[in-house]
This record gives sequence, structure tokens and C-alpha cells, in this order.
Amino acid sequence: MLKFCSSTLAVPQANTCVPEHVAVIMDGNGRWAKKRLMPRVFGHKKGVDALRATVKTCDALGVRYLTVFAFSNENWRRPDEEVSFLMGLFLKVLQGEIERMHSNAIRLKIIGNRSRFSAELVALIDAAEAKTAANAGLTLTIAADYGARWDILQATHSLLAEHPEKATSFDEGDLTPHLAMAYAPEPDLFIRTGGEQRISNFLLWQLAYTELYFTDLLWPDFDAAAFGVAIDWYRGRERRFGRTSEQLQVLSSC
Ligand code: IPE
Ligand code: IPE
Ligand code: MG
Repeated sequence: MLKFCSSTLAVPQANTCVPEHVAVIMDGNGRWAKKRLMPRVFGHKKGVDALRATVKTCDALGVRYLTVFAFSNENWRRPDEEVSFLMGLFLKVLQGEIERMHSNAIRLKIIGNRSRFSAELVALIDAAEAKTAANAGLTLTIAADYGARWDILQATHSLLAEHPEKATSFDEGDLTPHLAMAYAPEPDLFIRTGGEQRISNFLLWQLAYTELYFTDLLWPDFDAAAFGVAIDWYRGRERRFGRTSEQLQVLSSC
């Protein structure tokens, strides 16, 4: 059987294909540490190793875009010590990994509201994005201080600032270039680890037709084999984008 394997509405492809864009909520770090009687932040450190491994797996499989949720608008509500640790970790990871990413042709993008980050972190983000901007390999997007509602609002403000005449009438095509992920196709596969089955304000607009995969594995335990299970599950999905199954058969024989 043939499937739609990318977010395009027009081109059906064989179901052996790899998703072009995978979006991940990396959840369960705190519980992973707690199970080992360690402080929550130990789980965040381990989470970085799982992210490094996932980037490698995506690169090897030919996934073009990997987008990961690292810190939500709502995560500022966590205890101060945990928030400071996460900010410090983000800084350290950027400092420590950027050369390796660059040599692996990874293009790094950071999406989110940067206004509450330190000047040092913002400068580092700008430098990392600029350094890797022309790379043609995997696009790794880290969503940090990101929230989909924030994104939709900032896109609306940006559109209306550019085109005040559209205040009374604009459509999807007007708005989408202003969303934070305008440079990427919509995700084909969404993965959430940690057992929760919710979106937690991640990419609400872009996930409209994404296949949603949930696993009880905690993020630090999510390895290449677990990623493979998610990909196999994805290959079994029939992406109809509103059409009927029969229509897909006709389209696929065109
Ligand atoms: C996800 O793991 C990482 C962040 C939100 C920064 P959690 O820290 O949410 O881990 P749990 O869900 O409490 O186990
Ligand atoms: C979602 O995880 C955000 C990130 C993984 C960065 P949370 O653990 O913060 O989500 P909720 O609060 O349980 O929905
Ligand atoms: Mg969590």
C-alpha cells in the first residue's frame, strides 16, 4: 500500500520512506533521575546524551528536519534552581557541541521567545545559527522558551506590522511565513516520550496533520532502537489529509 510520507498534499510516496520532519517532546528526564534517587537535573544531563544520539540516528536515516522541545514558555514556572540549571546547560551544550554540529553539516535553528534569556545566551544562539546557516545537512531546531500560542500571536503581530492593510482579512498563506518554523515543512512524525499523551503547547499549528506517537520510555532511555520502533509505526500509518483511502489508491497509480 502506498502512503503520503511528507506533509505535501499532492505527492504520494511508497510507505518505506523516512519522515522528512520529526518533532519530539523530550519528556521524562526528572522521573528518570528520581527512579535512580538522583536530583532531577541529573536527568536533564542524561537527556543531552539522548538528544546527541537521536541527532546521529536522524542524520543516518536521512531525516531532513529534527525539531525538539527543550524548554516551554510554561517551564519558567519550575523551581528557580531547575530553571537556572537548564539555562546553564543550554549554554554549555551550545558552547560544547557547535563545532561538532558544524563539521557534521548540521544547520542549527533555535525557536522561541528569547527576551528572558541572558545576553550571553542570546549572543551564543545568534553565533551558532549564523555559523551553521549555510549547512546542507540535517536541520536541527531546538524550541527553547517556545510555546505555540506565543508563536501564533507573534506571527500575527509580525504579519500586521508588515501588512497593516490585512488587518481585516488574511488567510493561512499570509500567516504561515511569519511562524517561527516557516523554513521547514510541517512535521510528518511527532514523538512524545515519558508516557504523557498531550501536546503541551508545542507546534499547535504545524501538527494539524502530523502522525502522533507516544511512548512510555523516559527521554534518557530513548535510543536508536526506540527511534526505529517509532519509524516502523509511522510507516504503517495511512496519511489521508482529508481524502478517503480509495482516493489514495487512485492517486498512487497516477
Ligand atoms: C523534560 O523532562 C525536560 C524539560 C521539560 C526541560 P521533565 O523535566 O519534564 O521530566 P519529568 O516529566 O518531570 O519526568
Ligand atoms: C513539555 O514537557 C516541554 C518540554 C519537554 C520542554 P513538560 O514536562 O513541561 O510538560 P507538561 O507540563 O507535563 O505538560
Ligand atoms: Mg515533564
